[in-house]
Amino acid sequence: MKFFIDTANTDEIKDAVELGIMDGVTTNPSLVAKENRPIEEILLEICELVDGPVSAEVTATDHVHMVEEGLKLADLHDNICVKLPITRDGLKACVELTAEDIPTNMTLCFSPMQALLVAKAGATFVSPFVGRLDDIAQDGMKLIGDIIQMYNNYGFTTEVLVASIRNPIHVYQAAMLGADVATIPLSVIDMLLKHPLTDIGLEKFLADWDKTGQTI
Ligand code: G3P
Repeated sequence: MKFFIDTANTDEIKDAVELGIMDGVTTNPSLVAKENRPIEEILLEICELVDGPVSAEVTATDHVHMVEEGLKLADLHDNICVKLPITRDGLKACVELTAEDIPTNMTLCFSPMQALLVAKAGATFVSPFVGRLDDIAQDGMKLIGDIIQMYNNYGFTTEVLVASIRNPIHVYQAAMLGADVATIPLSVIDMLLKHPLTDIGLEKFLADWDKTGQTI
């Protein structure tokens, strides 16, 4: 499973990259807006921090300008993956950018049929938002299972990038289902690591070792 970090904050990305297990970054207009910095500056810094796909979302809504923005974003750095909303225009832009060998991440996915269209459009990634479905009492992880089953049925190569992750259980369930990627907020990455018995066990090991007076 690939781990992407879901943020446009370069300090958070540096923190996660130090773990040595990060494979990419996803951003979106809201995450970029939070940083209050020029988008090109942020994206170029992120691309130098992580050697993997960096999703950058277009803000145009018509396919001509989506393609125009997508080409501009892709020109910034080889790591850029152009993020497009799953709308009619977004799908058309996806087909056009894919024909130009530009990686695409189709976002705001909330149904299996949206994901099926995305795979037929040849997208690199599809981003189903599990947390936002859970937020309205729908089963976000069932969507992930449905998409993976559909893609396996037909051998689609679009990667399932689980997004809108709220907790470690989302990552666990995504991994059990065989999702290709989880894009995870830094706070949840830290939660994946933590277990009280690890902390208690380490404390006991060190206390017993200290009694020996030895050093390694
Ligand atoms: O990349 C998509 C992700 O940022 C959305 O997460 O928490 O806003 O639903 P959230």
